Amino acid sequence: MNPLLAKLQPYPFERLRQLFAGVQPDPAHTPISLGIGEPRHPTPPFIKDALVEGLGALAIYPATAGDLKLRQAFTGWLKRRYALEVDPATQVLPVNGSREALFALAQTVVDATRSPSPVVISPNPFYQIYEGAALLAGADTWYAPSDPARNFAVDWDSVPAEVWARTQLVYVCSPGNPTGAVMPLAEWEKLFALSDRHGFVIASDECYSEIYFRDEPPLGGLEAAAKLGRGDFRNLIALTSLSKRSNVPGLRSGFVAGDAAIVRQFLLYRTYHGSAMSGAVAAASIAAWGDESHVVDNRMQYRTKFAVVTPMLEAVLDVRLPDASFYLWAGIPPGWNGDDAAFARALYAQYNVTVLPGSYLARESQGANPGRGRIRMALVADTPECTEAARRIVDFTRRHPGA
Ligand SMILES: Cc1ncc(COP(=O)(O)O)c(C=O)c1O
Repeated sequence: MNPLLAKLQPYPFERLRQLFAGVQPDPAHTPISLGIGEPRHPTPPFIKDALVEGLGALAIYPATAGDLKLRQAFTGWLKRRYALEVDPATQVLPVNGSREALFALAQTVVDATRSPSPVVISPNPFYQIYEGAALLAGADTWYAPSDPARNFAVDWDSVPAEVWARTQLVYVCSPGNPTGAVMPLAEWEKLFALSDRHGFVIASDECYSEIYFRDEPPLGGLEAAAKLGRGDFRNLIALTSLSKRSNVPGLRSGFVAGDAAIVRQFLLYRTYHGSAMSGAVAAASIAAWGDESHVVDNRMQYRTKFAVVTPMLEAVLDVRLPDASFYLWAGIPPGWNGDDAAFARALYAQYNVTVLPGSYLARESQGANPGRGRIRMALVADTPECTEAARRIVDFTRRHPGA
């Protein structure tokens, strides 16, 4: 067996199952889960139709690079969304959801034979795939904490110089899961300067980019690069996905875009890994990337939901409307002494509402777990269900201001 497999951590939902084992929730309440961040708004019918119409493609092996029409669907969207000129021949690739690509990218760019040994930097809290990708690529991990005092911006300054010197890959998640924070241009400028100095690749995970609550759409990594005169996107790969934008998490469809030299090597890796996108999925994806009206409608549904639920929870938790994403990242009352797992378990037992303990989404690093004392709530169910969950959380928190 690959000994690196033993380094993988249990997934947060596995830990949640263990936390809730043996707990019998009060049967007076129907179960409501705000735990898993899986979109639940309906899939637009035109995407399903395009998938069915594409079924003829099942008779042939798809190309790993995707055909030109698919790649032009990506670059067309990048142009409309970010006013970017991206070459469909050399700067984009289809991926089967951003998750596999986030993982595979680390296997492509990390050189574990290099001395000093490689480091992959992840935000903290973070999407756990970054960690597994780094560990299986043979790298060490470094967790850079997000700072609640600066809208959960990642504290890049906290990374020691000797860690930067070993860094080969940095994951950025903007809009962030779980914080919902969008990384501003000045932070990108700082990170690009560090990348130029140390030579690391930036993987910009942007799968929540279309679910936002401010007037201005979230800044993309490639957009930031272009604004800063880095039109070749050197050492930068952005990863995006239809899962949340178009409510098709089961389609497994996304794309990567950026530095042509990395894209070329990534294509080589993917050819051997066998991760070509099915032609039927490609047909549905072309339809989805080409339409914005369903995206606007989807965003409106989230805006309505967050406008109702956030003020209710603000009364009892340390929470506010995020920049983007479909999560609320809330501090529990101080009386719980930071024990987010105990809060989640008691809430589940008494009100049958599932939330994810924040400490499960972060790692202890430099003496602190930045998820401690927080919970993540995924507002993916419909507005009445999320409102009912919020009502119960308010009740619970008022009755239990402390453990
Ligand atoms: C931050 C983040 N990145 C990537 C993904 C993967 O999404 P997909 O593989 O469906 O594109 C998720 C899914 O929950 C996520 O939260």
